[in-house]
Amino acid sequence: MKKQFSFEYDLFISINDLTSEQRSLMLEAEKAMKNAYAPYSKFKVGAALLLDNGKYVYGSNQENKAYPSGLCAERVALFSVGAQLPDRKVTKIAIVGEGALLGNNDILTPCGSCRQVMSEFVEKQDEKFEILMRNHDGSVLVFDSIDKLLPFTFGS
Ligand code: THU
Repeated sequence: MKKQFSFEYDLFISINDLTSEQRSLMLEAEKAMKNAYAPYSKFKVGAALLLDNGKYVYGSNQENKAYPSGLCAERVALFSVGAQLPDRKVTKIAIVGEGALLGNNDILTPCGSCRQVMSEFVEKQDEKFEILMRNHDGSVLVFDSIDKLLPFTFGS
C-alpha cells in the first residue's frame, strides 16, 4: 500500500513580510551569530529562541579542533534553556547562517541532530514551536512545527 506524506510551510520574500514578533526574533538571531566560533568551517550560525515569558535565549555554533566536539547554534540555544530555564517553554526559534557553505540558491535548515533535539523539546514541553530560517537570498521559511521537518521521529 502506497502512502503519502505532505505538509505546508510559509515562504516569505524578506524579513519585512514577517510579523513584528518574528522579525525581531530574526534580528536577535543575527546578533547571536556574531558570537559564533567557526574558525574551521568559516560558516557562522546564529539561533534565537523566544520563550513563553517573552525573553530571548541565544545560541551560535561553537566549533573545536576535535571537530565532532563542536555544537550547532540551535542545540547550544536549546540546551541552555534545558539547563537554565527548564520550566519555560520555547515558542519560536529563528536561525540564520553566513558563509561560503551556503550557495546562492541554498536554503538554511537545521541538521538532523538539531531536528531530533527540537523534536524531543516539543515532546518534553508538550507544545510545538515555530521554526524560522533565513536563506542566503534573504527569504525566510517558516514551519509551524518540527514534525514537518522530522516526520516519523524516533521515539514518537
Ligand atoms: N551548523 C549549525 O550551527 N546549525 C545548522 O543548522 C547547520 C550547521 C554549524 C555546524 C558547523 O559549526 C558549521 O555550521 C558548518 O557545518
